[in-house]
Formats: sequence, structure tokens, C-alpha cells
Amino acid sequence: MTYHLKCVNCQKTYAPDPDRYTCDACGDLKGTLEVVYDYHRLHLKREDFSPYEGLFQFKDLLPVGSHTSIDEAMGGTPLLEFEGLLGLDRVLIKHDGVGFSSSFKDRASIMAVNKALELGYDTVYCASTGNAASSLALAAAHTPLKTVIFVPATIPKGKLTQLLVAGAQVLPIKTSYDEVFDISLKIGREKGWYCRNSAINPYLLEGKKTAAFEILVQNHYEVPDFVFVSVGDGTIVSALMKGFREFRDLGLVDKLPRVVGVQAEGAAAVKHVFERGEPFEPVAEKADTIADSISVGNPRDVVKACTFARALGGTFITVTDEEILKAITEMAATTGVFAEPAGATAYAGLKTMVQGGEVAPDQLACVVVTGNGLKDIDAVRSSTPVTFYEVDQVCQMMKGETT
Ligand SMILES: Cc1ncc(COP(=O)(O)O)c(C=O)c1O
Ligand SMILES: [Zn+2]
Repeated sequence: MTYHLKCVNCQKTYAPDPDRYTCDACGDLKGTLEVVYDYHRLHLKREDFSPYEGLFQFKDLLPVGSHTSIDEAMGGTPLLEFEGLLGLDRVLIKHDGVGFSSSFKDRASIMAVNKALELGYDTVYCASTGNAASSLALAAAHTPLKTVIFVPATIPKGKLTQLLVAGAQVLPIKTSYDEVFDISLKIGREKGWYCRNSAINPYLLEGKKTAAFEILVQNHYEVPDFVFVSVGDGTIVSALMKGFREFRDLGLVDKLPRVVGVQAEGAAAVKHVFERGEPFEPVAEKADTIADSISVGNPRDVVKACTFARALGGTFITVTDEEILKAITEMAATTGVFAEPAGATAYAGLKTMVQGGEVAPDQLACVVVTGNGLKDIDAVRSSTPVTFYEVDQVCQMMKGETT
């Protein structure tokens, strides 16, 4: 499908040249680009899509082609439905913790890998809190691409291990994600490597938006009233809003859900910018939350996230670290979905709005779980104490008890 790139800030359009990442006039932070297709040439029907076929079934709305069977394994994650959860008639959980690298970022990384191959690069790099990196390293592992990864040294062990087994060159740096991002950009640009940094690379969002398509297809085109997702840099939330908008504009559904971006109270820069209003200006704040994936103080896609939210009815809320930790165990114990802190943040957001009376029992809410709980077990271990027993103790305790 043919497409061009458009600056979210000044609307200037660009051809999709190989080294085109952001708008020259607006810079990396304000001038992130949106991929715009020749929509009028698309005549898509509901029957063109099936619930579990993976993300490349949406190839007419993607800027790359598929290459291998590994690519086919991306997307197509479960949409689970629960009755009575949090007092609501029905709640949907889009479980993106079960993908190739067990996070939502697979949808984006496969775009970067295919684009890097298409453009003839030999090395792809990324700065990440962990998930983007581990998905990139695993998605590139079957290709000739060399992968260089910049992460904060505080990266959870599960995510670090994924990087190491995938054979990536890993550079854990003793500083914040925000600084790691800047360092990676400087080095990556000097070296001429392909960049898979959130927001900077406009094609990543295209992969991520397929989750919105899947939610609609898997829910038989019934549009949820609300979709909750956690927010760090602001790319995932922007991607979901774009995906819902595209299916609406193509006539596949007739309305949009209200997308609610959920931030941790200690890392709420996107919400602050949104509340300050237009023109949306990037900020650099302190970030402090147990949800490492969304511990972002200088969000790179804040202008896009706020612009889309303003235009498409989205909004941003915060939850505390305590609520996030509680949400991990509550969601696992009531639904069987074990999410990492950033994944459970979305559930905590739904709970907050239900308790505040902003989501009515008969309204349909969808929680997007963006990462698997096994990626970061240290975060939740302190709130799940356990006693280890001697053999005799257990036999004694269980005497007379039936199971
Ligand atoms: C599990 C998880 N949830 C949410 C996010 C937030 O996504 P974004 O930075 O695009 O807002 C990330 C990003 O790293 C993530 O890994
Ligand atoms: Zn611009």
C-alpha cells in the first residue's frame, strides 16, 4: 500500500525516504510522524479479517510486507471475556502478554526488523525500558541483522535474560531510561544503524495499531465503550487510537471507543501535558514508579498521544504504585491473567473509573495487558509472601483436611 508521512505537529508531509524519521522543522520530540495511507483506494470488508490470523492479515494498512514464518507468529493474541468482573456485566482483556517475547512490543519490533531488511541495513538498535528491546532482539534473531540494545541497568532480570539469550549486544547503562534514549540516538545516528526507538520510528506505531484492529475483529465488530492501556512514551496509546480511527474511517465500525491512557502517579508526564492543553509541549519531569516499563519522565510521543486524544475523545488518568501492585494479584486471581506492573496498570485504571462511577455496569470495557507478569517477578514478590515448609510440617497441617 502506498503511503506518506505527516508531522503530527505542523502537518508537513514527507516522502517515506529510508533515513526519514521525524520532521525537520519540529525536531525529534515535537515532530513525530504519522503514516498516512491512500485510504480512498482501500475497500476493505469485515469478511477480509479473521479473529486469530495474526497481524499481517492487515497488510493493506501496514507499511511493510512479511518475510518469514516468525513474522506470522506476531499478533493474534487472545481477547478474553469475563462476566461480573469489577461489578461490570462484561469486561474484555486483550492479553498481549502471550506473544513472541511476551509483550505488546512484538507488534512494533517486527515492523522495525522488516523495514531494516527492506532498506538494506545490517544493524538495528534501540533504547528501551526492556520490552521493546527484548522483542527486537528475539524478532531479529532469525535474520542477518545485528542488534544493539541500550537499556537502564535497572532492567528486570527476565527482560535482560531475553536479550542475552537472543544474542544481542546489550549495553545496560547506569542511568534513567530517558538518558539512555538520548545516548542511543546519538550513537545510533553516528554509526548509521536502523533506529527502533519509540516515537522516533513512525512505522512502529503501525504494528501496534493492529491490536485495535484485533479487538474489533475478535469482538465481532462490537465497539467497546472504553479501552484502558498504560502509558509511558505514549506510542501504544496513540497507536490504539489510530487503529480504531482507521477502522471507523474505512466504514468497518461506526464509532470509536473512549481510549483511557493510564499512567503511574509518579510518572505522569503525558497526563500533565494533556491537562495543560494546546499547543502540546514536550516536558522533562522526574519519573518514579515500580512499573519500570512506564517509568518515563520525558515521553517521546507526548505530542501525538495528546493530539490524538484531543481529536478522538481519549483521556489520561493516574493510579498509585500501591494500586498497580494490588491490580497484579487481583487480576491474576480473578481472571488468570498474570501481568507485569505496566500491564496491570490498565486494570487498575479501569477499577479507579468503576469506583468513581465513570464506567457504568452495562458499559463494555476492554483492558489491554501489555506485558507478561513473568518478565518482572521481583516487583510483585514483596506483596505475595510465602512460607516454605518441612515435609513433616505439611503432612501434619493437612491431616484431616480434604482437598
Ligand atoms: C508492558 C508495557 N506497557 C506499556 C508500555 C508503554 O508504552 P508507551 O511507551 O508506548 O506508552 C510499555 C513500553 O515500554 C511496556 O513495555
Ligand atoms: Zn513538523
